[in-house]
Amino acid sequence: MARILITSAIPYINGIKHLGNLVGSQLPADLYARYMRARGHEVLFLCATDEHGTPAELAAAKAGKPVADYCAEMWAVQDELGKGFRLSFDHFGRSSSPRNHRLTQHFAGRLADANLIREVSEKQVYSVADGRFLPDRYIEGTCPNCGYDKARGDQCENCTKQLDPTDLIEPRSAISGSTDLEVRETKHLYLRQSEMRDQLRDWIDSKTDWPVLTTSIARKWLDDGDGLQDRGITRDLDWGIPVRRGTEGWPGMEGKVFYVWFDAPIEYIACAAEWVDAGKGPAPDPGADKDSVWERWWRTDKGADDVRYVQFMGKDNVPFHTLSFPATILGSGEPWKLVDYIKSFNYLNYDGGQFSTSQGRGVFMDQALDILPSDYWRWWLLSHVPETSDSEFTWDGFQQDVNKDLADVLGNFVSRITKFCRSKFGEIVPEGGAYGPKETALIADLQTRLDRYQGHMDAIEIRKAAAELRAIWVAGNEYLQSAAPWTAFKEDPDRAAAITRFALNLIPFYAALSEPFIPDAAQQMADAMGTDLIWPETVERALSRLAPGHAFTVPDVLFAKIADEDREAWAARFAGTRG
Ligand code: 2FM
Ligand code: ZN
Repeated sequence: MARILITSAIPYINGIKHLGNLVGSQLPADLYARYMRARGHEVLFLCATDEHGTPAELAAAKAGKPVADYCAEMWAVQDELGKGFRLSFDHFGRSSSPRNHRLTQHFAGRLADANLIREVSEKQVYSVADGRFLPDRYIEGTCPNCGYDKARGDQCENCTKQLDPTDLIEPRSAISGSTDLEVRETKHLYLRQSEMRDQLRDWIDSKTDWPVLTTSIARKWLDDGDGLQDRGITRDLDWGIPVRRGTEGWPGMEGKVFYVWFDAPIEYIACAAEWVDAGKGPAPDPGADKDSVWERWWRTDKGADDVRYVQFMGKDNVPFHTLSFPATILGSGEPWKLVDYIKSFNYLNYDGGQFSTSQGRGVFMDQALDILPSDYWRWWLLSHVPETSDSEFTWDGFQQDVNKDLADVLGNFVSRITKFCRSKFGEIVPEGGAYGPKETALIADLQTRLDRYQGHMDAIEIRKAAAELRAIWVAGNEYLQSAAPWTAFKEDPDRAAAITRFALNLIPFYAALSEPFIPDAAQQMADAMGTDLIWPETVERALSRLAPGHAFTVPDVLFAKIADEDREAWAARFAGTRG
């Protein structure tokens, strides 16, 4: 039994996430966590909200709420939606937690002690009326390119031109509208990542089993142009983790906070501590303190050397996880656990364009659950996860795949055999008859498929795993079709009993294998058959679990088909932008 630490990239707090966000980290991470637990491993699966930075401040201002209140409310919303999608986090934390404050300040102190932080003076726009420096996107004005009068300091939304705040005509504060702006000097801390280039390169080079998507992005940043740039890790904002050097103040840095991308990955560690603080972890060993419980996952000097740490994220997050966060960890000189495997994803597009949070384009997590149970979404999203290239959600494709895979194949199999048994033998696994060549052949076929399925799941090759699972369902359907117990029953009821018993045994087998993808349906199948979800050791053994005389019930319809009217109505409802 191994110990596996799994983290999903932590979603920004500013609003409900769309299905593209979900499939790019949280959902595949959940699939892997469920699978590893089912295989008997000890898993710690963590996620949190990413609460700092300008977007959080802006969203709170838009909602007319103090940013701390806004974050607390949105954390609860995201937590609830995560539960709705059955994301099985051991803890869903918050990057604004006291634990993360302390750890972030601790890391900054260690990096400063190691001479890996330098101070840089910069010029930045200051709003006299607002009494604060303005990040680029807090400055608005007229676009010099197209004349749009609400262009932002970083980009014009109308013509997409990248801008500097000084390019804007008649610049004003996006907070107060004041034009009383001046350029002032401000001091910031930079992480000297460039000092660690060789160390980081050696580390990336040692990861020969990583997906190409991950290593190619990391190498691009290591090798491109000037190579790994030093990175500013502080901001002139009110909301965030105050800049301190460990537990000491940082002279000259008063009133500043750490940059959101510095503290967000540290939350992966803090989240484990929050998990323990929330009373969820196991009890500490006798004589040990409660921090030992989470340090066992995170400190290689405290037991984490045998942990396998796997991270999930979208491709835009890869540079931060392959370079900046490892630079923080390595630079601290302390024995923190480094990631062992990074699974990254391309983008899911929506109906000919992109999902977009700012434009409210696509289907968002709350809306998705509003129209269909989570298993429908989980199956479609995971079986179309943008693993090797971008993929696309269309309503036609969604309807077709759900109806075929879930309703026609899996759902139909379960309903057909349980109903047939009820009508001929009652709700009890029938006795009598013998298995023949058809059953032997199916067992052999399923054993090969099970081995392949496990291989793909172990390797986190999600599309291949989904295809194999689908093939495993199809094999059962084809068996039932060709063994045709309804025909056999007329001539040889004993043979029909044997076929029925065999097919009924496929249901708990399917339930266990399908649980990582469709946990609710899997539980429903197991409940109907009066069994627990138990991962098969061998197909042969798994298919003899339900003995003659074992009682079951016919489950309710597992998956309803999506009707054309529904598909059309949803396509129309989600064609525009979110209201
Ligand atoms: O891209 C994002 O959604 C970021 N909030 C991910 C942060 S992951 C990590 F660093 F914590
Ligand atoms: Zn423009």
